[in-house]
Amino acid sequence: MTNRVCEILNIRYPVIQGPMAWITSSKLVAAVSNAGGLGVLGTSADSEEIVRGIPESVEEMRKAIRNTKALTDKPFGINVFPAAGDPYGFSKAMVELAKEEDVMILVVAGDVSPEEIKAWKEDGFTVIMREANPTVRGAQLAEKAGADIIVATGCDEGGCMPGLSTGTTAITALLADSVSIPVLAAGGIVNEKLAKAAQIVGAEGVFVGTRFILSKECRAADATKKDIMDTHPDDFIVFTQSNGYSKWRTTPHKYGKEGLEANKNGDMNPPSGSFYYGMLRGDPDAGVNTVSNLSGLIKSIDSCDTIVKELGAPFVG
Ligand SMILES: Cc1cc2nc3c(=O)[nH]c(=O)nc-3n(C[C@H](O)[C@H](O)[C@H](O)COP(=O)(O)O)c2cc1C
Repeated sequence: MTNRVCEILNIRYPVIQGPMAWITSSKLVAAVSNAGGLGVLGTSADSEEIVRGIPESVEEMRKAIRNTKALTDKPFGINVFPAAGDPYGFSKAMVELAKEEDVMILVVAGDVSPEEIKAWKEDGFTVIMREANPTVRGAQLAEKAGADIIVATGCDEGGCMPGLSTGTTAITALLADSVSIPVLAAGGIVNEKLAKAAQIVGAEGVFVGTRFILSKECRAADATKKDIMDTHPDDFIVFTQSNGYSKWRTTPHKYGKEGLEANKNGDMNPPSGSFYYGMLRGDPDAGVNTVSNLSGLIKSIDSCDTIVKELGAPFVG
């Protein structure tokens, strides 16, 4: 059995690993793709140190792409952002690189930009559009511009959450009803039951971050993985950041506590620290350690192969 997402992306299971900046790596991406899902390189994948300039970042990403190709001959994607959310042209350079290196699947995160979607399609890319604050109008605009797949992200997600408080089930059902291209559910898809729930409300696949953090191949620090597994589901902290536009959910450490206090005092843009320290280096007091509010349902650290097959089962058996 197959489905439309598998056909568009030429994969076995419609399970797409969401890009996660520092903690994505060629090893993780290749493991997901080799399992039959789609791995996606995030910014700073494979980098060990913080790199600032665009040319340096491009060369780091070129290495990550080549490392991934050495580990898999299956398709994988790369994370980019529309120009409005990318004032320095970082993403534009990454798109050029993707073309040069023949990585023809873009996972676009941010606001919908019809002109850019059209241009990417003309260049031959497959476009997976993930509106940061997903809306019916945005999904329809993206479809009209030529996007291939829409991601419906609910506020159950890890990472930088949508500012709108729409849960994954609701936004998936709404977007699946409003476009004719396939929709992926994102946010809290951590086990087969939640993948099945997404499928019932109209998803044709899933877009997953948190579950892959708790995988054997994810390069997040062991201390970070343990911190997530040890945090009680009631104890995650949500604070608003970027002038109230986005939110972070984090394990209960310095930035979360300070962020919450800052919000109470009217500061809606407190710092969140970097994943580099909080998740790659394993110091939760030096940057957020952010995951889905459903991470408590993850009971073990498994291989990407096991995870892809479990989450893909409701869609392709
Ligand atoms: C630690 C972390 C970092 C993330 N970084 C990025 C990123 O760099 N770019 C992006 O488009 N999405 C990013 N995301 C969002 C994921 O791609 C994905 O949408 C999200 O993890 C799905 O929700 P889930 O974590 O509940 O599975 C990040 C998510 C997490 C948990």
